[in-house]
Amino acid sequence: MNILVTGGAGFIGSHTVVELLEAGHNAIIIDDFRNSTPSVIDNIEKITGKRPTLYKIDCNNTTELSAVFRKEKIDGVIHFAADKAVGESVKNPLKYYKNNIGGLVSVTEVMKEHNCNTLVFSSSCTVYGNPEVVPVSESASIQPAHSPYGYTKQVCERLIQDVYTSDNSFKASILRYFNPIGAHPSGLIGELPIGTPNNLVPYITQTAIGIREELTVFGNDYNTPDGSCIRDYIHVVDLAKAHVKALEKLSHSEHILDIFNIGTGNGASVYDIIKTFEKVTDSKLNYKVGKRREGDVERVYADNKKAIQELNWKPKYTIDDALMHAWNWEQNIRK
Ligand code: UD1
Repeated sequence: MNILVTGGAGFIGSHTVVELLEAGHNAIIIDDFRNSTPSVIDNIEKITGKRPTLYKIDCNNTTELSAVFRKEKIDGVIHFAADKAVGESVKNPLKYYKNNIGGLVSVTEVMKEHNCNTLVFSSSCTVYGNPEVVPVSESASIQPAHSPYGYTKQVCERLIQDVYTSDNSFKASILRYFNPIGAHPSGLIGELPIGTPNNLVPYITQTAIGIREELTVFGNDYNTPDGSCIRDYIHVVDLAKAHVKALEKLSHSEHILDIFNIGTGNGASVYDIIKTFEKVTDSKLNYKVGKRREGDVERVYADNKKAIQELNWKPKYTIDDALMHAWNWEQNIRK
């Protein structure tokens, strides 16, 4: 299949392009490099031996987007291009409304214009808020969003549901990611946070390499075994593979709207991650305990049975693998 990947040079996007190419599909990337670099494309080629087609385009530009659809025969779209910093979304909500919701409106509009009816969308476990029951399943209720970022994911999911209801040729798969970590085992692609990282693992690797002085554990007084928050950390390559499986399922289905949790099914605390990092790298991490971070939920991890059964997918990598790969990547980019 010819798959358009918006945000294909980003962290999850680039790993998904690799998996698409390795599964025998063609990938056409659109990315405006606001959060990534063009060298990612060279590295995708080094890993796969294939060079994805690239268009430097902003998803909100429907004229340029439409020209890509005219030029390439697009069978389906995986839409990653979006902003994802929770704190920034509170300070600059309009950026999130424009890029996350506006971006999806533009992409869906242009898809319809060109009779392309297959969409895989990157959503987040943030839609569950602070779940009453863990592991959380896809049927759990959607909680009021804590941030504009979280709200944009909820609106995007609703938009996809509405398009699905209005158009009986439309097929979509909404993937609710838990916490993606790690990097490609080759060490050639990984996460490239701009400025101070918001997420735990890049903060850890930047501290270990000496860019940051120390990690702050955001709260050790939660009602969890060691007092720190619990998340479901999934290797980005396993997450990327789920996109290919979701797409392949859509290609064999008629009018369908799928929703899948993509996580490992296991919870790990912040201290678990620190200890595992220290173990796999045989080093000591400089960290201190700080205040709780506003908006953090105490614990969330996935009930991933639906994805395992219906997508014929299973996470393969451990947290040890993911942290080792993230560390290799951090060392490679600082060379
Ligand atoms: C957040 C979003 C998630 C989004 C993801 C991507 C929420 C509730 N979650 O995940 O939807 O997809 O970002 O960016 O909106 N931590 C520390 N010290 C640090 C950094 C993090 O202790 O310096 C802790 C946090 O308190 C949390 C865990 O590490 O318990 C993971 O944090 P993070 O990597 O930021 O991801 P989430 O907040 O879970």
